[in-house]
Amino acid sequence: MSKWVKVCEEKSLENGELFDFDYEDKKILIAKANNKVYASDRICTHAYADLATGFLDEKEKVVTCPLHMSRFRLEDGSPENLPAEEPLKTYNVESRDGLIYIMLE
Ligand code: FES
Repeated sequence: MSKWVKVCEEKSLENGELFDFDYEDKKILIAKANNKVYASDRICTHAYADLATGFLDEKEKVVTCPLHMSRFRLEDGSPENLPAEEPLKTYNVESRDGLIYIMLE
C-alpha cells in the first residue's frame, strides 16, 4: 500500500545538493535542483554505490554515480550513459505546509 512519508522541512534542503533519507529498508536519494525536490532510489543500478555521495548537475537535473560515472535523470531515473542500464526508481514528491513528503509503497 502506498503512503506519504514525511522527509524533512523544505527549508533545510539547499539547492544543488544531494541528501540521503532512510525509511525502513529503503535508501532514498533526495535532490534539490532549481528549487524543485526529486526523490529516487539511492543505490546505483549498476553496482553498489551510494548516489548521495555522487555529483549533482543542477542545470541538467542529473546525478552522476561516484563509482563509474553513469548519469541518471532526476525526473525519471533513466540512465544517460553506460555502464548503468537500468533506471532508478523514482518517487512522487509533495510539499505541504513547509514539509517535504514522498510517496512510498
Ligand atoms: S556503480 Fe554506479 S555506474 Fe557503476
